[in-house]
Amino acid sequence: MSDVNTMRAISQDDLGGPEVLKEVQVERPTPGPNEVLVRVRAAGVNPTDWKHRATGGFLGRPPFVLGWDVSGEVTETGIGVAAFKPGDEVFGMLPYPVGHGSHAEYVTVRARALVPKPASVDHAQAGALPLVSLTAWQALTEHAGLQPGQRVLVHAAAGGVGHVAVQIAKALGAYVIGTASAGKHDFLREIGVDEAIDYRSTDFTEAVRDVDVVLDTLGGETSVRSLAVLRPGGVVVSILPVGSEDFHEEAERLGVRAVRMLVDADRSGMEAVADLVEQGKLRATIAGTFPLADAAKAHELGDTGRTTGKLVLLVD
Ligand SMILES: NC(=O)c1ccc[n+]([C@@H]2O[C@H](COP(=O)([O-])OP(=O)(O)OC[C@H]3O[C@@H](n4cnc5c(N)ncnc54)[C@H](OP(=O)(O)O)[C@@H]3O)[C@@H](O)[C@H]2O)c1
Repeated sequence: MSDVNTMRAISQDDLGGPEVLKEVQVERPTPGPNEVLVRVRAAGVNPTDWKHRATGGFLGRPPFVLGWDVSGEVTETGIGVAAFKPGDEVFGMLPYPVGHGSHAEYVTVRARALVPKPASVDHAQAGALPLVSLTAWQALTEHAGLQPGQRVLVHAAAGGVGHVAVQIAKALGAYVIGTASAGKHDFLREIGVDEAIDYRSTDFTEAVRDVDVVLDTLGGETSVRSLAVLRPGGVVVSILPVGSEDFHEEAERLGVRAVRMLVDADRSGMEAVADLVEQGKLRATIAGTFPLADAAKAHELGDTGRTTGKLVLLVD
């Protein structure tokens, strides 16, 4: 049990498989200037969580508490916070990578990273959406400048990022082509995909052409091969931020654009995401919910790379 000074959190002392994750009691943080303390109700689990668990990534050596998605209630405000008061329900993404720590009962967050949670969705929905939706929104609007009527190819369209990218691209008026294994094609059509490609039986470079925007969620040779399906002036936005220089060199040779990006937490993106949710144009498909104490089970499922939609931790 936590008292007023402590909280439950999922931490790790070693890098490794899901078994390194354990529930611990730690000191409850206090919000600094321009920060709020949020009582976490739900928090998505993303590939970046299981990658950091295994490798340390941007966070270096453990101990650390993972988690960048958050939905919950403001319980305390730091000096200077005018936008929120205790009791407000909020959701958003913690600044990446330094703001991590939502896989816990409480987390401090820069107030400008948060927006009010739409009343029409529960915390599980709101906690599932921020990181993947901001990624897709920033990729499609800021980096690709997607216009109505354009053709978009979304790789791994059934995944966390892919399934929200499909919905956002449709909301922006695009024609959407998505890749997934054949068993997931009904799901792709339900979320709005116009044309589904089974990547296991079909080479997408032979099945698709004249694309304006590719959202590359796979990286590696997929980034470079995706350039070949673009129209002149088209763009591949890859969300695997590190990779070979061939990507840029080949893009230049073909007269197209190649962009690699990392999602960045911001209020304007979250306002756009909240608007789409309120208009009924964006919903997360929940692959599974887990109590905080079972975070390792969510990581195990995530590690398979086969989930449809989002994994979410619920914090009682
Ligand atoms: N740069 C950034 O800021 C940023 C932000 C978010 C995510 N990411 C990265 O983007 C990647 C995707 O994230 P995510 O949350 O979408 O992952 P995810 O939810 O774990 O993706 C799982 C999905 O990938 C599909 N998939 C696997 N291999 C595939 C292939 N070769 N072709 C088509 N679909 C395939 C699976 O479908 P099947 O079962 O049909 O194979 C499954 O539905 C991760 O590496 C993540 O770290 C980067």
